Amino acid sequence: MSGSAPDPPRVALVTGGARGIGRAIVLALARDGLDVAFTYARDADAAARTAREVEALGRRVLARPSDAARRDEAETAVAATRAGLGRIDVVVANAGITGPDGWEGVSTDAWHRVLDVNLLGPYFTVASAAAELRRTRGSAILVASIAASSAYPEELVYSASKAGVVSLARSLAYALAPEVRVNALAPGWVRTDMTRALHTRPKAAAAIARGIPAGRWGEPEDVAEAVVFLASDGARFVTGETLVVDGGDSLVWTIGAER
Ligand SMILES: NC(=O)c1ccc[n+]([C@@H]2O[C@H](COP(=O)([O-])OP(=O)(O)OC[C@H]3O[C@@H](n4cnc5c(N)ncnc54)[C@H](OP(=O)(O)O)[C@@H]3O)[C@@H](O)[C@H]2O)c1
Repeated sequence: MSGSAPDPPRVALVTGGARGIGRAIVLALARDGLDVAFTYARDADAAARTAREVEALGRRVLARPSDAARRDEAETAVAATRAGLGRIDVVVANAGITGPDGWEGVSTDAWHRVLDVNLLGPYFTVASAAAELRRTRGSAILVASIAASSAYPEELVYSASKAGVVSLARSLAYALAPEVRVNALAPGWVRTDMTRALHTRPKAAAAIARGIPAGRWGEPEDVAEAVVFLASDGARFVTGETLVVDGGDSLVWTIGAER
C-alpha cells in the first residue's frame, strides 16, 4: 500500500456562473472533476439551480452574490473560495454585461459601468487570486468576445471593453509567467439571456445563423468545452492567447449576408 495521499481535487472560481455561458462553464469544469465556486449578481434562484446541478455531479460547490465590478468583493470571493474549498487552480472571469446601444452620446456613467464590470472586473479577480494561482501553478481564462476585434459601432462601448480584455490577458500572461497561464476566450453569437432579444426573433436569429460558416448559433456548452481545454494540462504551453469560439463567424464580419 502506498503511503502518499491522493491529490486534492482541483478548484475553480467562475464569475457570473449562475446562468448562460458561466453556468455551462461551471458544469463543464465540474464534469472534468473540479470543485467549483461561482459568483452571480442578483439571480439567487438561478444560482441555487446551478449549485444543485454541480452537487448532482458529485462535486463540491460554493455560490455567492458578488459584484464583479468591485475590487473588495473580488477579494472576498477569492478568500471565501480558499476558505470553503481549500485552494484555487482555475479562475474564469466570465461576468459581463452589454453596453448602451450606439456610439453617439454615450453617457459617462454608462462607460464606467461597462468598463467596471467587463474590464476592471477580470483584472480585480485575477489580481486577487494571483498569489494563490502562483502557489498552485494555476491558470486564468478571461471571457472576451469577437466584438473585440470587429468594427461594431452599435455596441461600441461593449466592443472596446472586450478589446481591453484581450490586452489584459496578454499583459497578465506576461506578468504571471511562468507559474500561471492567462488566456482569453472570444465567443461569437451564443444563445443566452444576453442575446435573447435576437435569438428569439426567428428572422433575426436566422439571419445571424446564415452569416456563421458553421450554420448555427453557438450554445453555451460550445464555449465551456474550450474553457475546459484552456484550464487543462493539455494547454500547458498556451498563454497570452485568445481562443476564438465562433463557428467561423469572425472570418468575415457579415451579419446576415449570404455566403
Ligand atoms: N452570449 C453571447 O453571445 C456572448 C458572446 C460573446 C461574449 N459573451 C460574454 O460571455 C460572458 C457571459 O455572457 P452570457 O451571454 O452568458 O450572459 P448572461 O446570460 O447575461 O449571464 C450573465 C451572468 O453574469 C452574471 N453577472 C452579470 N453582471 C455581474 C456582475 N457585475 N457581477 C457578478 N456577476 C454578474 C449574471 O448574474 P445574475 O444571474 O445574478 O444576473 C449571470 O449569471 C460575458 O462576459 C459576455 O460578454 C457572450
